[in-house]
Amino acid sequence: MLLTREEEAILAGEHGEVPERMLRLLVRLGEIYKADKMIPVSSAQVAGVSYKSIGDPGLEFLEDIAGKGARVSVLTFLNPAGMDIESWKELGFPEDFVEKQLRIIEAFKKMGIVISATCTPYLSGNLPRFREHVAWSESSAVSFANSVLGARTNREGGPSALAAAILGRTPNYGFHLDENRKPDMHVAVNVELRTDADFGALGYFVGKIVKDRVPYFTGIKHAGVDSLKALGAAMAASGAVALYHAHGLTPEAKDYSPEGLDTISFGEKELTETYQNLNSGEEPDILILGCPHSSLNEIRTVAMLVEGKRLRKPMWVCTSRAVKELAIRMGYDEIIRSAGGKIVADTCTVVAPVEEMGFKTIAVNSGKAANYLPGFCKARVIFGDTEGLIRRVIE
Ligand code: F3S
Repeated sequence: MLLTREEEAILAGEHGEVPERMLRLLVRLGEIYKADKMIPVSSAQVAGVSYKSIGDPGLEFLEDIAGKGARVSVLTFLNPAGMDIESWKELGFPEDFVEKQLRIIEAFKKMGIVISATCTPYLSGNLPRFREHVAWSESSAVSFANSVLGARTNREGGPSALAAAILGRTPNYGFHLDENRKPDMHVAVNVELRTDADFGALGYFVGKIVKDRVPYFTGIKHAGVDSLKALGAAMAASGAVALYHAHGLTPEAKDYSPEGLDTISFGEKELTETYQNLNSGEEPDILILGCPHSSLNEIRTVAMLVEGKRLRKPMWVCTSRAVKELAIRMGYDEIIRSAGGKIVADTCTVVAPVEEMGFKTIAVNSGKAANYLPGFCKARVIFGDTEGLIRRVIE
């Protein structure tokens, strides 16, 4: 790898211990993937925030480097934490978990990282432009940045995103390069996708087959931002898809054609079977929406569905703090509270310790959540669309 004089000096320890350690990590990564050089990134998004995911070793590492002066050099957002940073008591999060989680948050804050605690940074103030190089790590955010925005990022691990945030650079390989962004599988969609849950089901089905390849979708007539985030999140979870193209919908699709690629079909039969495969529970203990974190429009839809009604089960609508503030201002929070639900910020169904909170069967509208809940949270799943799930838990 060709390193600049400044990078050589960092490696020689002339800028201190933390930059040296961080650059060593990036150089190692670059060597593994045969990067030719480092390139600048304009923003980072760091995962590995929940105490449930990183435990004591992660906490000690973060406190150590924060104490040694680690500071980010580009706009850096944080992935969801294991709890709502402000309303944890009301929501019943365990106190020993809270203590550790708050120390993790403090360490990130000390490094200058924005405590956005969201997997949808693009909805709350970190929005890269087309072809901009960034270093993001949460898989659904990576998919959205690459596919819907046309920005360029690899699927970073927590440590490599943090290193990129501190040094403002990343090794030049993978999805930063044009040649790796072309599709290598065609997905022909032959069914009308009516809800965001349908997009999640499509993503779950495709991710399992294409793994980490780049699919090219045809046949999707219309998709809004919320549908595309549901699609990308599910594909990144059941497979490891970090980039997809959708004809007429995503910015780089026009540069490619599905001609000559192996084709998989997704029709009514596959849609129905995917719903069946994702359902393992009967009566939910809780309904959790917002994986990836809800947009304001999704929260508005929920508010309209529960207005004047009473829920017979708890309901969380997960989102970022920034979007929750708008929901409060617009009165959606009040409507949802009056029905017995809650807008929960900073966390989500997968990284919160839901199993310790007694929720064994969880209803979700997300293909990604449905994929992770059985393994990560030992929960049974009811998978359906927002409206159907809400009707199911209305008194
Ligand atoms: Fe976001 Fe958590 Fe889902 S990080 S994509 S809400 S699993």
